[in-house]
Amino acid sequence: MHSRFSQNEEDRLSSYLVTIGCMAVLFGWCAFFSGLLRASESSDSLKNTHAFIHSAYYYENSKSLGKNALALVMSINKLTAENILDMKIRFLATNDRLERFPVEATLTSEHDFRGSCEYVTVLAQANTIDNMELLEIEGNDKVIDQVSFKKPLETSPSKVVFCVAPQLAAENWQEFLRQVHVAKRYGAHLHIYVISMVEKYFRLMKEYESLGYISLEPWLTVKYSHVQEVYMEKPNRNIEILQKTAAFTDCILNYKEAAEFVGSIEMEDLLIPIGSTSYYEEFEKQYGGNEFYSGLIYARQMLFISQESENSVSLSRIFQKTTPGDVNSYGRSFVRTSNYNSTWLHWSRNSDRKTYHKKVEGCRMFNFRKSETINQNESEIIIDEKILGEIEGELQHHLELPQIKAILPELPVSEVYTTIISKCLEQLTSRYSPETTVCMDMYKCELPIRRDLPCIHSDGQYSSTLPMKPITFHYSSHHFFTRHLGCNI
Ligand SMILES: *[C@@H]1O[C@H](CO)[C@@H](O)[C@H](O)[C@H]1NC(C)=O
Ligand SMILES: *[C@@H]1O[C@H](CO)[C@@H](O)[C@H](O)[C@H]1NC(C)=O
Repeated sequence: MHSRFSQNEEDRLSSYLVTIGCMAVLFGWCAFFSGLLRASESSDSLKNTHAFIHSAYYYENSKSLGKNALALVMSINKLTAENILDMKIRFLATNDRLERFPVEATLTSEHDFRGSCEYVTVLAQANTIDNMELLEIEGNDKVIDQVSFKKPLETSPSKVVFCVAPQLAAENWQEFLRQVHVAKRYGAHLHIYVISMVEKYFRLMKEYESLGYISLEPWLTVKYSHVQEVYMEKPNRNIEILQKTAAFTDCILNYKEAAEFVGSIEMEDLLIPIGSTSYYEEFEKQYGGNEFYSGLIYARQMLFISQESENSVSLSRIFQKTTPGDVNSYGRSFVRTSNYNSTWLHWSRNSDRKTYHKKVEGCRMFNFRKSETINQNESEIIIDEKILGEIEGELQHHLELPQIKAILPELPVSEVYTTIISKCLEQLTSRYSPETTVCMDMYKCELPIRRDLPCIHSDGQYSSTLPMKPITFHYSSHHFFTRHLGCNI
């Protein structure tokens, strides 16, 4: 196999041989020559990289990004360039009068570059021209390709939006029902990224989408339609799990002008404010008019529930029988859209340098975990009984709606794909010692295609630009959901 590593070995060997040969003849000259050779080889291989464009936004007038702002969310291979953040991306912007202007975008990243995944999420930003109608990538001194961009949302169904991390082979619909009704009660709209999920569960979500409670967004994994280097063919194997950072950043950019607050959560994270009747009130109270904070962080407490309650959609039953577990200090962030341009998994490391995050106490976020040993006697009152009753009533009312009632008997009764994935991830982790850094991803886990449990999957048209320096771009367009790819990545 021709890999990057064997290529490097060869390079080293050849310059070594040149050096030996040279020593015999004219030491000074030859050392100089071999040095040159090595320098040109390494700088050459370090000036080419690949980027996948997840999304591109054009803001005519943004409160926080300025006029004619451009923001692109990308995944870039960090190993193939010395410092990818030193790179500039050159675009050509054309306005409605067909005038063309060069634009140079600067790059920032929320990732720690010592991390073990080769690919990192990068945000490219620039300010461009009035009435931009066409955006093209420039490279090798010519126009390479057109980038399709979208305008950010102008309105949002509510002032608070929760961005839900990409779903892979999702089947826990009970978890969704709890989330959507708690979110609805406290006034949050859910924006859910979907890679793949069980089809019947997807139909249930579609009903909630038509009620206006949620938005479903196809989330396309990184694929290259064309690369020259063999080792570049499978970018997904070297990328953070499900590219959550990129999805959360996309969500902030999409709602930047439309929503006041955006939260980045997993489907199983339930945020229950204490002493506030809505999330909006809760967040405003926490900020307390203080623009100094860049974001709010809520720690997550694990709550162990039995298998039986896990399968129940009744919130009261779930909350009655729980055993509290540890508090995970990483938490989730809820931020003012005007203060954040991008985020890492748990908060923004970029904005952290400028101001700081407020860690919120006393308002709780729960993360449910199944457990075989539930201490039935231990049950904390963690949610206001009256509000719980209201949420429960709404939930039961929705389950009686004819279009939803019709789907209920067809929903999965056990977690088939989830069980396979968690076994697979366990095996993967057990192979490495805690000190080893490996890029953990789920792409190594093969999911069977089961006729009795069909899945829907996001897809689109994948394209690549011609190979170019310093960055070859890859992107996708015309996103849709299909029944033909199974649940696999
Ligand atoms: C967001 O981007 C704008 C425009 O480049 C910049 O002025 C602002 O400081 C950025 N905010 C953060 C939190 O990085
Ligand atoms: C639960 O409570 C009952 C009665 O109060 C008691 O007999 C039992 O030992 C308790 N179980 C646990 C696990 O604490």
